Amino acid sequence: MEFSIKTLSPEAAKTGCVVLGVYSEKELSAPAQRVDQKSNGALRAALPDLSGKTGSTLLLRGLAHVAAERVLLVGLGAKKEFGEAAYRDAVRAAANALRELGARDAALFLVDLKVRSRSLSWNLRQAVLGIREAFYRFDELKQKKGPTPSLERITLPLPPAAQLKQALAEARATADGADLTRTLGNLPSNICTPTYLAEQAKKLARDYKLQVEVLERKDMEKLGMGSFLAVTSASAEPPKLIVLRYNGAAKSKAPIALVGKGITFDTGGISLKPAGEMDEMKFDMSGAGSVLGAIRALAGMKAPVNVVGVIPTCENMPGGRAVKPGDIVTTMSGQTVEILNTDAEGRLILCDALTYAERYKPEVVIDIATLTGACVIALGHIATGLFANDQRLADEVRAAADDSWDRVWQMPLWEDYQEQLRSNFADFANIGGRPGGSITAASFLARFTRKLRWAHLDIAGTAWRSGREKGSTGRPVPLLVRFALRHAGRK
Ligand code: BES
Ligand code: MN
Ligand code: ZN
Repeated sequence: MEFSIKTLSPEAAKTGCVVLGVYSEKELSAPAQRVDQKSNGALRAALPDLSGKTGSTLLLRGLAHVAAERVLLVGLGAKKEFGEAAYRDAVRAAANALRELGARDAALFLVDLKVRSRSLSWNLRQAVLGIREAFYRFDELKQKKGPTPSLERITLPLPPAAQLKQALAEARATADGADLTRTLGNLPSNICTPTYLAEQAKKLARDYKLQVEVLERKDMEKLGMGSFLAVTSASAEPPKLIVLRYNGAAKSKAPIALVGKGITFDTGGISLKPAGEMDEMKFDMSGAGSVLGAIRALAGMKAPVNVVGVIPTCENMPGGRAVKPGDIVTTMSGQTVEILNTDAEGRLILCDALTYAERYKPEVVIDIATLTGACVIALGHIATGLFANDQRLADEVRAAADDSWDRVWQMPLWEDYQEQLRSNFADFANIGGRPGGSITAASFLARFTRKLRWAHLDIAGTAWRSGREKGSTGRPVPLLVRFALRHAGRK
C-alpha cells in the first residue's frame, strides 16, 4: 500500500473513492459538507441509510459534480464524544470497506478531523498504522490465498509540510516493523524456531546494514548462563542469543537496549501446561518479535538513535534432560535460583539476557515479554503491564504509550513483594505464588537489573488475539518506536 500527502479538495479529487466522515447527530464533517453542496445535497439525501455510529459505512457512486467514482461515508459517532477511540475505529472501518471495493486508489478525508488535542502528525500516524493493520494478511501457509485487494494507493489530503512528511515516513516504517512482528508471531513453532529468528535477524542486518551476532549454546556455557541453559535443556532445537545493533546516532551515544523474550514454544516443561489453547504458546516469542520489528522500523526510517536488541530464544520442552521442579541453577549474575515451576521460564532466560545487556552500557533497558497469565487477569487485553525501577523512565514509556495509543498501565514494583520469592535452598525462587503474579515475575527480573535504568513490559495480554480473530497484534512495536524517537528528542 502506497501512501502520499497532497493538498486536495474532496469534490475535485480524481480518485476511485473519497472517504468522508459523518457524526451520528447527522452532522457532516467539513469535507463532507463541501461534497454535499457540490452534489446538490446528495449526501444529506443518503443519510437515512447511515446510522452514523462509529464505524458504520455507506457507499455512494456516481455523484453529480464530484470527480471521484465513489464516496464512502463513515460514521464517526457522536460529535461531542469524538476522540482517539472513535477516530481509530472510523479509520479501521474505512480501511475494511476499502479492502472490499474495486477502487485502485482512495483519498482519506478523515485525517484532518480534530481529535481532541492531537496533532495532524498523530492523526496521520494512526491512520497509516490502522490501515496497514487492516490490510495485513497471513495466508502464506494456506493453499488458497485470500483475494488481493484492488486498492494500491491512499492519498492523505494534508498540506505537504515537512513535519507531516516525517510523520508519514515514521508511520510507514513502523507498519513495516509491526508486519514483521505479526508474521513472526503467527508463524508456528515448527517454522519459527530459535534458528529461524536468528536467520531473520541476519537478514535484517543484511537489508539495513546492522551489526548482528548470534551466540550459541557453547558461548552461553562459557558465559555461565545457567538459568537460560536450564530452560533449553530438553529441547532438540538449539538455543540462540541474538544481538542486533542499529546505530543511527553518534557512536558516543549510549544505546537503548531492548531485550525480548523469545520462547518459540512454551509447553511449560515438566510443569506441563494443560492441552487447551496450548497452540497459543507459539506466540511466546512475541517479545523477541517486537524487538526485531522495532529495530526494523527504526533502521527503515533512519532514526537518529542507537539501539541494541538482545534476544534470548529457545523452546521450553519436557523430556529426559529437562530441568525439574526444585532444581537449582546459577545465573550469569552469580545469583542462584530454585526453579519451583518450570513454566515460569521467561524470567529464567531474560535474567541472563539482562545481565548480558550490561556490557553494552545502555542508557536505558526495556524488556518485552509475554511473561505472565496473571498480567492478563490484571489488565485484560487492552493495556500492557509496565514495571520500572526508575520513575522517569516509566513516565517516558507512559507518555510514548499514550502518544502511540499502544497503551500501558504501570504496576508497583515495591521491595515488599520480594518476600514472596524466598527460597530455603537458593538465593531465591523463580515463582512467588498466585497473589500478584505479574508483580513477582517483574520483581524476579528486578534482581538482575539493579545496575540498570530498566523498564519491563508484560505483553501477555496484548501481543495476540484469541478466538476467531486469532493472531499477533504487532504490539508493542508502535510504543517502542515512539519511545525511541521521543527519547531522541523528536516530537
Ligand atoms: N508464557 C507464559 C505466560 C502466558 C500465559 C502468556 C498465558 C499468555 C497467556 C509464561 O511462561 C508462563 O507460563 N507463566 C506462568 C507463570 C507461573 C508458573 C508462575 C503463568 O502465567 O501461569
Ligand atoms: Mn511458561
Ligand atoms: Zn512462557
